[in-house]
Amino acid sequence: MVKIGLLGCGTIGSGVVELLERDSCRKNDLSIEKILVRNKDKHYNKPYGCKLTDSFNDIISSDVDIVVEVMGGIDPAYFYVKQSLLKGRHVVTANKDLIAKFGSELQNIARQNGVRLLFEASVGGGIPIIKPLKECLAANNITEIRGIVNGTTNYILSRMDSSGLDFETALKEAQQCGYAEANPEADILGLDAARKLAILSSIAFRISVNYEDIPVQGINNISADDISLARYLGCSVKLLALSRKTDHGIMARVAPVLLKNTDSLARVSDVYNAIVVKGDAVGDVLFFGRGAGKLPTASAVVGDIFDIVRHNMSSQGVEDCKLEDPAPVKLDTAGCKSDFLIRVKVNDRIEAMNIIAGLFSRFELIFPERAKLGRLIDQDQVIFVAHDIYETDIDKRIDLLGTADCIDNVLSILRVEGEA
Ligand SMILES: NC(=O)c1ccc[n+]([C@@H]2O[C@H](COP(=O)([O-])OP(=O)(O)OC[C@H]3O[C@@H](n4cnc5c(N)ncnc54)[C@H](OP(=O)(O)O)[C@@H]3O)[C@@H](O)[C@H]2O)c1
Repeated sequence: MVKIGLLGCGTIGSGVVELLERDSCRKNDLSIEKILVRNKDKHYNKPYGCKLTDSFNDIISSDVDIVVEVMGGIDPAYFYVKQSLLKGRHVVTANKDLIAKFGSELQNIARQNGVRLLFEASVGGGIPIIKPLKECLAANNITEIRGIVNGTTNYILSRMDSSGLDFETALKEAQQCGYAEANPEADILGLDAARKLAILSSIAFRISVNYEDIPVQGINNISADDISLARYLGCSVKLLALSRKTDHGIMARVAPVLLKNTDSLARVSDVYNAIVVKGDAVGDVLFFGRGAGKLPTASAVVGDIFDIVRHNMSSQGVEDCKLEDPAPVKLDTAGCKSDFLIRVKVNDRIEAMNIIAGLFSRFELIFPERAKLGRLIDQDQVIFVAHDIYETDIDKRIDLLGTADCIDNVLSILRVEGEA
């Protein structure tokens, strides 16, 4: 009998309990021995009530073989996971905050103690991505990862697109549906996506990527007008996590981008996630599925538990995904160019065109049809795509644009991925 200690029994923990109760799981002789929660009263009438504890000591002093961490956050999850590994327990976690920050350190501790640390659920919820990256794509030199890795922001952007909601209304709806947390900052500011991108990039490129070094732009400034314009151009706005090998290293960024609707990622809507991995042998591989939620995420957690059981509770001869030691690479943004869709409100159209032409050597004006985007025309907006702008240059040029007398306001700047 393999004994499991569960740290946390919220959305994901209760999903893990539910899946382990299924016959197919029972056959594997797995048993949850103890469940750590913060407030036992909240859970008193649940079938697992007799297993509850509010003390980590009850878990670590028992004879559990695998500790499953689904509490979230860093403190005290980091301490509990570290203690579990030091005491020779295998650990499975769904915690991207923990893995992005302390993954390599905890993996080293696991190795030194002859146990395993698995974290498939930390990126992409139920989508198998970490193991395939390491195992199935091992023959490839991976050159690029592009993904929609945050379900909350994808839901918000999808609702803004499908129902014309503004950002605040779509966010409120996401909270009511349980897709966004009461404090949604980490999601809407792109920080959650940056952590996941750092984990994937570390594994794919075999270098340590510090999530704090990844340039991040959230979706909090995306307006209903941006979405209408994107739709008019046959595009969708998506929060894209992108990392790519360049001549000088690795570039990585998280930002809302305009994707042509023919792009496979543009069609990923609601809370779904998708990740496209480019390998030099295989080409593009698309991973798609439910990136969050109780049973999808628990499915990945339980998959990791089975993996440990399948290897007879031993780390001998098992080569898990290695998160590199922190010798953070300097991310390469200097050499990277992008196209940008820019909207400005002007008071002198001719003069504004002159300024734009002076600042952007290659640009293309967009003249929307009145019947479709009359609102933007009535507001004296000038809309253009600026091509081939160095990432390091864009802020400077936008500042200059904003200071011109003929321009009242820079309304929005959106990167364009591919041809828009
Ligand atoms: N939700 C998703 O869709 C999703 C998807 C992918 C990954 N994840 C990751 O999975 C993890 C869990 O997420 P969740 O949504 O299940 O969280 P949740 O619903 O908030 O549940 C957290 C659980 O941990 C317990 N807990 C929290 N702090 C504790 C402490 N200091 N001591 C003891 N118990 C504590 C809570 O106890 P009480 O019940 O007493 O409050 C609760 O049972 C996070 O790392 C998250 O990032 C979640």
